[in-house]
Amino acid sequence: MNTTKTLLGQSAALDMLRCRMCGTETESGPYHVCEECFGPLEVIYDTEGLRGKLTREKIASRPSDMWRYRELLPVAEEPTRGLGVGCTPLLRAPRLGKAIGIQDLWIKADSSNHPTQSFKDRVVAVALQRAGELGIKVVGCASTGNLANAVAAQAATAGLQAWIFIPEDLEPEKIVATGVHGARVIRVKGVYDDVNRLCAEVADRFGWGIVNVNLRAYYSEGSKSMGFEIAEQLGWTLPANVVVPMAGGSLITKLRKSFWELTKVGLVDEGPEPRIFGAQAAGCSPIVSALQRGERQVRPVQKPDTIARSLAIGNPADGLFALETMRETGGWGEAVSDEDIVRGIGTLATLEGVFTETAGGVTVSAAARLALDGRLAPGGPTVLCITGNGLKTPEAARSTFRLEDPIQPRLSEVERLVGNGAA
Ligand SMILES: Cc1ncc(COP(=O)(O)O)c(C=O)c1O
Ligand SMILES: [Zn+2]
Repeated sequence: MNTTKTLLGQSAALDMLRCRMCGTETESGPYHVCEECFGPLEVIYDTEGLRGKLTREKIASRPSDMWRYRELLPVAEEPTRGLGVGCTPLLRAPRLGKAIGIQDLWIKADSSNHPTQSFKDRVVAVALQRAGELGIKVVGCASTGNLANAVAAQAATAGLQAWIFIPEDLEPEKIVATGVHGARVIRVKGVYDDVNRLCAEVADRFGWGIVNVNLRAYYSEGSKSMGFEIAEQLGWTLPANVVVPMAGGSLITKLRKSFWELTKVGLVDEGPEPRIFGAQAAGCSPIVSALQRGERQVRPVQKPDTIARSLAIGNPADGLFALETMRETGGWGEAVSDEDIVRGIGTLATLEGVFTETAGGVTVSAAARLALDGRLAPGGPTVLCITGNGLKTPEAARSTFRLEDPIQPRLSEVERLVGNGAA
């Protein structure tokens, strides 16, 4: 067990890994599967020991980034990486709420996260901090785009070499936003699942820290910081409903864990568990399809076909846990068409001034459907997790407005337009 300097001077229940399938515990390290059953490993914490020690006041006294919750994140030392990540705005969304029929609606705006405008900055902060603690010098990832950006940017700040593996047909904006940081960008002929399989072999062969493969147990914990922030921003209360986009299905499960941990540590009062809702694109909806069919298994989608590339994972690593999260919290899942994704992007931008990428369009449209079907718990805040920025997928938004013809720089031209009612 890693009993070096832990943050509260406790020896490290904080830093143990437990199999999510069979419960076997192992010491911390760059392992991602259980030696007994090949199930995924998860970090566990001494939540009881943190009661009364990790207080609201202590958190409030710390800088505005995700490390303000560091006792509930899997790091052994004072973090030196991922500084400035997190603490994104939680915005009231009354105009959107009115349009889609949700009272007390909020947007968690990770579209403005530092440094690469998606929630993936959170998971990468933890992975790279942990990589440093484990002595790993080269990092990488298999990515649908946002993770690529986040690993490349944060590896640059940390002075680490980065190898980024992506499907060859990714949006050009996401490729540029990766390469600009000096990472090696390796385009792979195939879908995300081919990229991911290759990365598992790469991690074994070279001993690199592939953040979402052999560092996955740590990496995934970073998503919890979004849930911690939502609770703190709601005055240390939990929302009634949360709507979350799903790809590998990790974020949705970690949001639930974050709310559970806050309750155990005593930072929020015991109360009803938030209902957690998952959103996918109809062209790649393995988790939502399993939920809606009432199945216990997730059938992989061989060839994802959607404009929501960031969510296009056909064989989700955490699909079963995501299913469990929606079922056990009383939530539900919705899959929306590409047309609805575009409509969702336009609706959020015109009503609330937030420009999201395709994943956010999925979330907004799924939320509208959930509201229509009466699935949301009444009487408390509903939070939509807007996890990525629209400037990364501008093509998807092109059809949401009509581009006007250019005019001569003459007032009469504007008068003509105003007269036509175009203003
Ligand atoms: C913008 C965005 N939102 C949501 C997700 C889904 O995350 P997860 O794979 O944890 O389900 C992704 C994953 O790539 C993403 O890029
Ligand atoms: Zn196991």
